[in-house]
Amino acid sequence: MDKIVIVGGRKLQGDVQISGAKNAALPILVSSLLVDGWNTFHNIPDLLDIKTVKKLLSSFGVKIEGGETVRINAGGITSCEASYDLVRTMRASILVLGPLVARMGEARVSLPGGCAIGARPVNLHIQALRDLGAEVTLKDGYVEAKASRLKGATIYFDIATVTGTENIMMAATLAKGQTILKNTAREPEIVNLAEVLIGMGARIRGAGTDVIVIDGVDSLHPVEASVIPDRIEAGTFLLAAGMTGGDIRVLGCDALHLEALIAKLRDAGMRIELEGDAVRATGGVTVRSVDVKTLPHPGFPTDLQAQIMAMMAIANGLSVITETVFENRFMHVSEMMRMGADIVIQGKSAIVRGIPKLHGAPVMATDLRASASLILAGLAAEGTTTLSRVYHIDRGYQQIEKKLSALGADIRRISG
Ligand code: EPZ
Repeated sequence: MDKIVIVGGRKLQGDVQISGAKNAALPILVSSLLVDGWNTFHNIPDLLDIKTVKKLLSSFGVKIEGGETVRINAGGITSCEASYDLVRTMRASILVLGPLVARMGEARVSLPGGCAIGARPVNLHIQALRDLGAEVTLKDGYVEAKASRLKGATIYFDIATVTGTENIMMAATLAKGQTILKNTAREPEIVNLAEVLIGMGARIRGAGTDVIVIDGVDSLHPVEASVIPDRIEAGTFLLAAGMTGGDIRVLGCDALHLEALIAKLRDAGMRIELEGDAVRATGGVTVRSVDVKTLPHPGFPTDLQAQIMAMMAIANGLSVITETVFENRFMHVSEMMRMGADIVIQGKSAIVRGIPKLHGAPVMATDLRASASLILAGLAAEGTTTLSRVYHIDRGYQQIEKKLSALGADIRRISG
């Protein structure tokens, strides 16, 4: 298995181009299931999870061509079954459930199973699909759903679930009548998906707010559309500037998607300048400690919690970082402590006492965003950090070591 080796202490400087958002590209590629014909999607990132979703869609008989620009046609679906061996490698596979039932009248999707950061059940997806009139049973670890035609309903999500909102919004586009979704997630990726669905002829209002209204139509048509930039990748690079005292211009990033992070980085002493579709981040003389509480969008994103913790580990005070979205998203803490970080976990919060310098060490990636936080820690640490299990990082960051070395980092991937 590959490893990433970093010799820390370099200031990162220069421009970095942000890739398309993984968490927008996944539901957008899946939305092709709703349509008979060739869709064209631009700005698709080159990631492990994208390869997985393409494999999954191909297993249904969907035709897929291309890389950064993808042409995809679900005109000839031959199977509606998402197997465990594919679903277990990527939980977002559950997103095929709604579109398959809406378009084909049936679906058999493996339950995702456990995940490092939490139980991550899909009960809200299933309940909402039942509310739309589907007959849903759980059998042999699979979700089996059937509906001759989904019927519009008013649905209240107990939790503002991102993929739950996406799954049911897609299903409702072809339901008979009007669906009102309440307490929906408001992430920018949901707005991007809604724009794509509207381009296909769906009738959707309110995406990006906590109430989404969908007036069902009988069929949708192909569309050409683009995926938004990855705000989590962008935020990771802004933090890299803060941790190394560098000066990085993050190109192709929408600052409106990063308001919560940018506010925290300014409080931590960084200079953040918005320049059109670029954000310029300059590290402060010192890093000031800030408290962070993760919340659904527009709150501070849980997907940047591990990364900002790496910066707080070298801040000049005490920071309380509270994770409210997932129940086990502190897997990076014990690895950071191997690098000298002074962190104590108390329930949902991590108490981080900043120290002047981390020191390099061999560390292990446990999940996607934890891997990014350990790379950030390695960039700022004294000495060499070796990160193993880098397949985690490849799920969500396109060529991160190439992008970082172009900014001056001493970082390389070694296979073996
Ligand atoms: C999406 O996951 C993202 N993944 C995650 O990004 C992100 O961390 C998460 O949203 C929160 O922003 C994709 O978009 C592919 P949720 P999702 O449903 O939809 C509970 C990354 O690093 N819940 O919003 O699975 C759940 O357990 C990944 O890119 C239920 O209880 O997250 C969690 O505590 C990690 N029942 C909370 O809701 C359900 O049916 C929020 O989960 C669904 C969710």
